[in-house]
Amino acid sequence: MTSIPATNTAAEFGSRRNTAILITGAGGEVGHGLISALHDGGSRDVVAMDIRELPDSLRAQCRETMVGDICDDALLSRLLSMYEISEIHHLAALLSTRSEFAPETAHKVNVGGTINLLRLAAEQARSHGRRVKFIFPSSIAAYGMPDLRTKAAAGRVREHEHTLPTTMYGCNKLYCEQLGRYYARHYRQLAQDRMADLIDFRSVRFPGLISADTIPSGGTSDFAPEMIHAAAEGRPYACFVRPDTTIPFMTMPEAIDATLQLAAAEASTLTQCVYNISSFSPSAGDIADLVREFFPDATITFEPDEARQAIVDSWPEDVDCSAAMNDWGYRPQHDLRSAFRDYLVPQITARYPERV
Ligand code: SER
Repeated sequence: MTSIPATNTAAEFGSRRNTAILITGAGGEVGHGLISALHDGGSRDVVAMDIRELPDSLRAQCRETMVGDICDDALLSRLLSMYEISEIHHLAALLSTRSEFAPETAHKVNVGGTINLLRLAAEQARSHGRRVKFIFPSSIAAYGMPDLRTKAAAGRVREHEHTLPTTMYGCNKLYCEQLGRYYARHYRQLAQDRMADLIDFRSVRFPGLISADTIPSGGTSDFAPEMIHAAAEGRPYACFVRPDTTIPFMTMPEAIDATLQLAAAEASTLTQCVYNISSFSPSAGDIADLVREFFPDATITFEPDEARQAIVDSWPEDVDCSAAMNDWGYRPQHDLRSAFRDYLVPQITARYPERV
């Protein structure tokens, strides 16, 4: 059931539409960080949408919040009538582990929702006459390494290499990258009344993300943040992948900074629609070692889950970020140790103060 707070009615029935930066999936891990960063940066026109009510702390940082489903056409039509949207951060998605339990639902949300938002962006641009920036977080799940030997030999992969994902989520992300490029460059290319250049589509392929403030749910890179939060909370943790399992990661603040940096980049500097980003590529064993160093009482065991292990094994060991570095100045801010020392440990211990 869609519900829009009564405070929206002024915008809805007023003679002019309020300007807005729309964030979908606002209640997720990236949404939390992004809303705070935009608010701290002085942005006062964030309209945040999520399937569930947002916590008060997030609501306070938004112009409006809406509870609704991105697959609901009526809701998106209302958005069109209520707001003049300049930028969309489309974060809503079902992550890789959750998607494998309900692949068709994942497709509906991840692809159907994205195409709805792309159409909304195009209609917005037609209605106010300016290109709408569409920022789309893609994922390391867009890759698919056929076996561990190929993974080890490939090292850092570039955006177009090894893109045969094995998960529904990965297929969805890869296809939505293509949809974004289509809407940006070729949308309705044969239509008589075609308007070109409606959407400025930009995407980052996130590696696994580690936040000190929130705990992920439904992902397959979750073993890293779960291990760290469990140790800080004094809970034992059974890691669901082997200690040698290696994929790239970055901290949540780095992911947010990079997203905003890409959003702010001059369009003329961008040579592609989709960019790899990543900061460090530790094995699960490396992460466990550092967790034990900072939390000496931590109890970590390795009890690989064959199916989830296979998913992580299909993701590359590392990604080549040179396009992001050259085009819009992406720079990792941390290595694994500095991520622990300067960000994760201080903030996580503040989150679970009874353990200190
Ligand atoms: N964190 C995501 C997942 O595990 C990958 O991008 O599904």
